[in-house]
Amino acid sequence: MALNVKTLENRAKKTLLEAQDLEQLEGVFKQYLGSKGELTLFLRSLAKLPKAKRKSAGKAANEAKATLSIVFEEQKKKLQKGSAQKGQEPFDVTAPGTRIERGHLHPITLVQRRAENIFRSMGFEIAQGPEIETEWYNFDALNIAKDHPARDMWDTFWLKPQNQRERLLLRTHTSPVQIRYMESHEPPLRIISPGRCFRYEATDASHEFNFYQLEGLMVGKDVTASNFKAVIQEFLTRLFAKPVTVRLRPTYFPFTEPSFEVDASCVICQAKGCSVCGGDGWLELMGAGMVHPNVLKAVGYNPKDWTGFAFGVGIERLAMLKYRVNDIRLFFGGDLKFLQQF
Ligand code: PHE
Repeated sequence: MALNVKTLENRAKKTLLEAQDLEQLEGVFKQYLGSKGELTLFLRSLAKLPKAKRKSAGKAANEAKATLSIVFEEQKKKLQKGSAQKGQEPFDVTAPGTRIERGHLHPITLVQRRAENIFRSMGFEIAQGPEIETEWYNFDALNIAKDHPARDMWDTFWLKPQNQRERLLLRTHTSPVQIRYMESHEPPLRIISPGRCFRYEATDASHEFNFYQLEGLMVGKDVTASNFKAVIQEFLTRLFAKPVTVRLRPTYFPFTEPSFEVDASCVICQAKGCSVCGGDGWLELMGAGMVHPNVLKAVGYNPKDWTGFAFGVGIERLAMLKYRVNDIRLFFGGDLKFLQQF
């Protein structure tokens, strides 16, 4: 019996070593050591042998099993190495490559850049201001009264006071850049200022506590509301790449007089009436007005010599209309399914 096991072991060893690939090797292993393998069956049959023979035969069979398992593992490693080396063989220059993913700009950046280009072509400079503002620039210099509700802590993110003199906040609009720019420049001037603003409010499909505005300011001799209307109509027509008409309605802002609510003919339905414009063909787009004399005085300009217009528009609002996005929160959600469409 012991001799039979040895013969079996040798035969198995030889075939294992002759295996050409991993599949063949597994096959040979199964043939001897699988659940119905020759050696397995032999081991099972030992129970039937008389006790005296069982011991020596069992020992030989178990040793054969151990040896064959080692031979199998070593041969497996050898074959695996071989197939890995094959992978390094001369590579096929005609095989299609793996595509490298291209990055792209965020829709808000796209609209901001487009707007910057349009205004630059009309002679506007791009000005920047800080996102953390003083109470003076965000409110006082803009003629916003001390008791104006916008100053309430429920509308504005106030920062912990650093010293007694200046209260700091996250700017609620880009209008403070008007003041900063006029303080350091002489008229005539034309600027836009795109940037991030913050308001302490609940979010919904059209409100975010963090959003982008584009401020515009033009000051010169005899600048009038009709200059404003022409500039903004040109801007919107070029941004949306279709003819847009503009309508001004009276409203109130502390830093402009007169102040306008600016409506544009609906760019979705060409003013025919749709769900986006609420059926009346007009979209409420931005606030604007003629710079208030008190603001001009606050920066040391003589309101008798200079006039100007200012406006502020939400960049998300423009992007939502341009790309037909119906929820502002998508811009900040980081959802790739949304972002990869731009
Ligand atoms: N700052 C105003 C707002 O955030 C918009 C505005 C800007 C109005 C400039 C008039 C002039 O609502």
